[in-house]
Amino acid sequence: TFPERVFSGIQPTGIPHIGNYFGAIKNWIRLQDTHSSVMYSIVDLHSVTVPQDPAILRENIMSMTACLLACGIDPDRGILFQQSQVPYHTELAWILGCQCTLSRLAHLPTWKEKSAATKDALLGLYTYPVLQAADILLYKGTEVPVGEDQFCHIELARALAKLFNNRFGHLFPQPSILLTDLPRIKSFRQPDKKMSKSEANPNSRIDLTDSPDEIRRKVKKAVVDSHSELTYDTDNRPGISNLIGLECAITQKSPSQVCEENTGVLTGQYKLKLADLLIEELTPIRLQMERLLSDRHHLSGVIKKGRDRAMEIAEPNIAEVKSLVGF
Ligand code: ADP
Ligand code: NA
Repeated sequence: TFPERVFSGIQPTGIPHIGNYFGAIKNWIRLQDTHSSVMYSIVDLHSVTVPQDPAILRENIMSMTACLLACGIDPDRGILFQQSQVPYHTELAWILGCQCTLSRLAHLPTWKEKSAATKDALLGLYTYPVLQAADILLYKGTEVPVGEDQFCHIELARALAKLFNNRFGHLFPQPSILLTDLPRIKSFRQPDKKMSKSEANPNSRIDLTDSPDEIRRKVKKAVVDSHSELTYDTDNRPGISNLIGLECAITQKSPSQVCEENTGVLTGQYKLKLADLLIEELTPIRLQMERLLSDRHHLSGVIKKGRDRAMEIAEPNIAEVKSLVGF
């Protein structure tokens, strides 16, 4: 049996929005309390599967590091590191890629979707699920907190671990999905869709660095229907239900509790209350992020320490892999 280890990654593709925060990052913070070994990687190698401007990428790696720390990732408990600083991710991905058929990758829904959206899809975009398997297996990760869209990729990691183990020796665990019931935050402009960085309209989302004024303005403009009372009905009233869901994500209240407490409150007034709650939740994060980003030396130190601790685990594991393969 393998000791429990949580592994997850996030791409450095700009400031996270409150969907990323309530739907992923907050869960990462909680896992630090419930699991003895947690590893969080800023997966820059994954981000270059689509073209990135080097200067912007470099800045995004710094700001994502600052953001995760500001949200509450504790680099003394978990391991927070930059993927490309540990060279063995790509080394293991190559070896695993040599156990993986083309057709297995071609059937992944993420590939079908992404390749359909671009005329000249890149090789890296095709093979990145193999890199993702390597990310997890390099540390013998056993639990992976990911959303539904990633289930097929964890399946692939399990399949590749099994193929490797059967052929070379029992080295890798079978990583499993760590399922948590996480809130799904909807777009403020199209509440039938999820809030996403890829939606062009910046008013569709609240970023973790938005100022109180911006937060207030965006919440006021959030699309709701013409009924002015508060009821929770995600199918028929997605706009107001999304706002109620946000309060629940902040306060841990249930939707019915929120509706009860706001009997007689009109949606316009409720928006102002919600904006205040969001401002209260996000302001400390924004200020801490600013402090961290103003001390690059300290940030680099955190990244360096994360690398050293990740390397300590990765080095003996990749040595075992290579020895089993015959290198
Ligand atoms: P985006 O769609 O903004 O690019 P990603 O796909 O990079 O977001 O997702 C990063 C993490 O945030 C994933 O774990 C994903 O499940 C979570 N996430 C993204 N959008 C939302 C959302 N609107 N609500 C809840 N969680 C979300
Ligand atoms: Na996305």
